Amino acid sequence: MKILLRVLKWTGGVLLVLVGGFVALVYARHDRTFDAPYPEITASTDSAVIARGEYLVNGPAHCTGCHTDNANEAAYMRGEEVPMHGGYDFVLPLGHVYSRNITNHPQYGVGRLSDAEIARTLRYGVGSDGRAIFDFMPFYMLSDADLQAVISYLRTVPPDDHQPPDHTFGFMGKAVKAFLIKPMGPLDKERPKYVRPDTTVEYGAYLANSVANCDGCHTARDLVTGAYVGPRFAGWQGMEGMRGDYYNTPNLTPDPTTGHMAEWTFETFQKRFRAGPAYETSPMPWVNFARFSDEDLKAIWAYLQTLPPVTKETGPMLAKAGS
Ligand code: HEC
Ligand code: HEC
Repeated sequence: MKILLRVLKWTGGVLLVLVGGFVALVYARHDRTFDAPYPEITASTDSAVIARGEYLVNGPAHCTGCHTDNANEAAYMRGEEVPMHGGYDFVLPLGHVYSRNITNHPQYGVGRLSDAEIARTLRYGVGSDGRAIFDFMPFYMLSDADLQAVISYLRTVPPDDHQPPDHTFGFMGKAVKAFLIKPMGPLDKERPKYVRPDTTVEYGAYLANSVANCDGCHTARDLVTGAYVGPRFAGWQGMEGMRGDYYNTPNLTPDPTTGHMAEWTFETFQKRFRAGPAYETSPMPWVNFARFSDEDLKAIWAYLQTLPPVTKETGPMLAKAGS
């Protein structure tokens, strides 16, 4: 009996030390910083470059819907212009992550960041303070020219003094940050300097994978790590929408039986994009995508037709309505 007690005390002691060590490690590591190079990208005042940036930010790269606050959600869904002053509350299992103010405000917005700091955040996922940025923005493979265009346009957005709340994390959130969250932008891949906008499959591939993130939502992902776990573009079941709704994203591959667009022509596709959102809580940024140029839609359509067909039934698009 005594021995058993002693053993229990001993193992209990070891456990306490282990738990204590883990807690200390979490606190020491949760704000850990990372290194990544600063891209040599500087904002331009050339009106054509700024216009390209305006198109990307409000259209294909859909920055606006995420970078406004919850109070503007309905206005955004109606297609109204909303301020990019941040504060949208992304409720994650780890805690609350709020989008940032990306107007050119010198204190609360990107006005306080250099061009190279913004470029590094978007290209490598390393924030100005060295923190790993949460993987909301997979613009890691944007061309130098498009990254420059986006930053050039942000420099022209009038400063808005809205201050988004700081992120908040519970202990588990801190633990995940300490051990799992890493910058997602690959360091070893070469980025294109320029990808020519035209109607080719190559440009469609660039738009769908590196700018508009079609693959990120239309491919099954692991909910914790974000890793791709299903065939590309073949749909994702159970993606979270707004207000507790869940969606199945349809299979976009040209599979004759289960492909969502198997019976569509380019005109059907184009009309669907011009129409805007069909579901109030859909996470797909239809409002921004309604601004796609006809050429860009042609390129994406051409690219999607070249995908290997995958037979995968994904079920109704609105999978489960929230409470
Ligand atoms: C799916 C939602 C989403 C989209 C789309 C999005 N962002 Fe973000 N962005 C966020 C969130 C959330 C954060 C905060 C992340 C963090 O701090 O880890 C953020 C952070 C940033 C930051 C860091 C700001 C700072 O103060 O350090 C910049 C810059 C930025 N976004 C620019 C953009 C641009 C430009 C686009 C479009 C090309 C864009 N974002 C599209 C959600 C989004
Ligand atoms: C942030 C996630 C997200 C992104 C990014 C996204 N989608 Fe979707 N998509 C969805 C969801 C969710 C649905 C189902 C609900 C809906 O239609 O709004 C959907 C539905 C669709 C549909 C079927 C619409 C219908 O009414 O039949 C098509 C086609 C489509 N997406 C194509 C695309 C293409 C092409 C891109 C890139 C340009 C893209 N999606 C980017 C989430 C996304």
